[in-house]
Amino acid sequence: MDKERKLIVAGNWKMNKTVAEALDLVRGLKRELGSVKDIDVVVAPSFTALSEVSKELLSSNIRLGAQNMSENGYGAFTGEIGAGQLRDLCVRYVILGHSERRQFQNESDALVAAKAKAAHAASLIPIVCFGELLAEREAGTTEKVVEAQVRGSLAGLTKEQVVETVLAYEPVWAIGTGRTATSAQAQEVHAFVRKLLSTMFDEATAKRVRIQYGGSVKPANAREILSQPDVDGALVGGAALEERSFVEIIKNSL
Ligand code: PGA
Repeated sequence: MDKERKLIVAGNWKMNKTVAEALDLVRGLKRELGSVKDIDVVVAPSFTALSEVSKELLSSNIRLGAQNMSENGYGAFTGEIGAGQLRDLCVRYVILGHSERRQFQNESDALVAAKAKAAHAASLIPIVCFGELLAEREAGTTEKVVEAQVRGSLAGLTKEQVVETVLAYEPVWAIGTGRTATSAQAQEVHAFVRKLLSTMFDEATAKRVRIQYGGSVKPANAREILSQPDVDGALVGGAALEERSFVEIIKNSL
């Protein structure tokens, strides 16, 4: 697929897989995707599997991501994991502000922004998630909600940092439900966000930022969604847990 920005497809494994299962999956992905250069491929296992998966990915084109991190650098924060510790495991990306964390851990836009700043300070690339609830879409407030989340979650980032940030539009009603946004619905919000970025920063910056779509992306719908002009990749949950479907999503999008 000939795109303005390099596509990035990331697998969010959420709270799934033992270390052995994670290694099994990643070995398969390495075999199948070892020669893919035109799409950035990222896997984000649970913290418990990061160390082993990291070793398996040495000298691979597949990059390692984490699913969360602390906004604090280090110190007395029991149960937290800091950006420096992730860097230590050769993690390159970190998913921030996923709707499940916003919902179950009450993560706010301000917290996501603090985490994004801490990620950049450690040279990690944040994947900043946002997206409206079904009730918000039905009430016609999608753009208002998305604008507040994007402004709030990127607050304080410089132009240089935002270019090195991946955004992920994930309508909450499409996550894990099998109900995907249509490619037109995705494109509409992505274009809106890019325009918003050009007012927050400038047009040149907005043109460089990659915006992933997430929410029930599958091999059958990936190509159509990813071929939209402002959709620059996918954040994949369920279909990333199985080798065949994740590989097909990427191969179908090449
Ligand atoms: P899904 O999850 O692909 O299972 O809908 C996407 C996500 O939560 O990132």
